[in-house]
Formats: sequence, C-alpha cells, structure tokens
Amino acid sequence: MNTESPIGVFDSGVGGLTVVKEIMRQLPGENMVYFGDTARVPYGSKSKNTVLKYSRQIVQFLQTKEIKAIVVACNTASALALDEIKREVAIPIIGVVEPGARMAAESTKTNSIGIIGTESTIKSGIYSKFLRNINPEITVVSRACPLFVPLVEEGLLEDRITDDVIERYLHEMKEYGIDALILGCTHYPLIRNAIKRYMGGEVHLVNPAYETAKSLKLLLAEQGLLNQSGNSAMYEYYVSDGVDKFSTFAAKVLPCHVEPAVVVDIESY
Ligand code: DGL
Repeated sequence: MNTESPIGVFDSGVGGLTVVKEIMRQLPGENMVYFGDTARVPYGSKSKNTVLKYSRQIVQFLQTKEIKAIVVACNTASALALDEIKREVAIPIIGVVEPGARMAAESTKTNSIGIIGTESTIKSGIYSKFLRNINPEITVVSRACPLFVPLVEEGLLEDRITDDVIERYLHEMKEYGIDALILGCTHYPLIRNAIKRYMGGEVHLVNPAYETAKSLKLLLAEQGLLNQSGNSAMYEYYVSDGVDKFSTFAAKVLPCHVEPAVVVDIESY
C-alpha cells in the first residue's frame, strides 16, 4: 500500500456513484475501486445485522485491491455498519452521515433541519444524533422516502410521478419551516431539482457527498496519503450482478468514460 493505492468506495448499488462523482471532482488525482452490491440492493429496508454482514464482505473484497482508505458511500451502511467496521480495519475509513450532518448544521439559520433517507437510516436516528451533538438547539424532522430509490433507478428524474411522490412524502415537512434538508440517501441528489422545486428556494438542500469528499481530502492529507504522482487517475468498477444496468446508470452519472464493471461473487468473502 502506498499513496498511489486506490481508495475503495462502496454502496448497496449504483447510488454511491454520486459520491464517486464528487470525489473525482475534488480529488482528481486519486485512483478508485468501486463496489456496488447490485445483487443485494436495497439495504434501506434491511436489518442492522444483514447490512453489517454485507458491508464486512465488501470491505474484505476491497482489501484484496490494496486500497489505502475506504469510503462507505451509502447512507444506510454508514448508519448501521460504520462504527463496527471502523474498529475492524487498519486503514482510514469514512462514511457519508457525519460529514452530511456537519454541513447541515453549518448551513441552517433557523436550527430547523429536515432529513430524508431510507427506512433503516431514518429509524437509526443517526443524523439526529450527530446534529444534536453539534448543536443541541437543532430541531429535526425526518421522513423515510422508500419510493425515491426505484424512481431514480428507473430514470424518472423529471417526471410527474416523481413530483407526486415528492409531494406525498414532503408536504408535512414543508409546513415545519425547515431551512435545510439533508438528502440522506445516495440516490436523492439525482432528483434534487424536483425536490428543490417543491420545497422552494429558501430550503438549502444538503448533499452529503460534497462534504464527504472534502473530509476525505483532509483525512488523506493528515495521514500523508494524498496521491501527488501527477498520473491520470484510474477507476475500476465491481458489482455483484447486473453489469449492463450498472453501466447505463454510471454513464449517466459520471463525467468520464466508464470501464465495464466486473462481477464479483461477494458471498464468498
Ligand atoms: N444507497 C442507499 C443509501 O444511501 C440507498 C439504496 C438502498 O436502499 O440500498 O441509503
């Protein structure tokens, strides 16, 4: 392992590519290995034990790629598995929840913050916990939005059905007068325009991916792990199923040519 070693990034499927995109933007010199658990997605309705087992298997796999750090680019896995995995690996590891909470706490003026995410992330209460640790005055209103993930995966980013579902999930939150809304699921930044239209310009939408890439940069710098070779970055993609669907989605999200993904038998790790 050295500074040119890749960063391992994983998610339950394709959503983590929104985090990859932000890492590519803020850390253009870093090599990355991405794993999307496309065979076992969604994680958002699964138990802590299951998400922890899956995350451990993925970390085992990524470690075969000589990675120098890990980004858990999945809110659900960050909420349910990160604490345990942190104790088990010797390399730096970060998730998306803490950076997202920090960014929301910095951006609110009314101390009234909304959080949307998968059922498991919302049930874990983790965003609220981090927010209240940062500022006990903050009040939080949260809502699980399970239908957003399939809508995004179907490519319905600008569609009347998506607008209807947004209204159904967010109309109560709109009445609370929040001024910041955490997009606490990797898929949600892809429908941010539709959410913004509904919530109005005065509600700041917080994309944890941005702050995660920023935290990653700081962490690598602190540990002397930034890749300063000047070589162009290399990216590898692995999935547990559905290579074609992954490629189509990746080509839409990422700003560069995407090499075909390779299927991994993740259950064997
Ligand atoms: N990647 C997941 C998250 O950010 C959403 C998809 C899923 O439920 O697995 O929580």
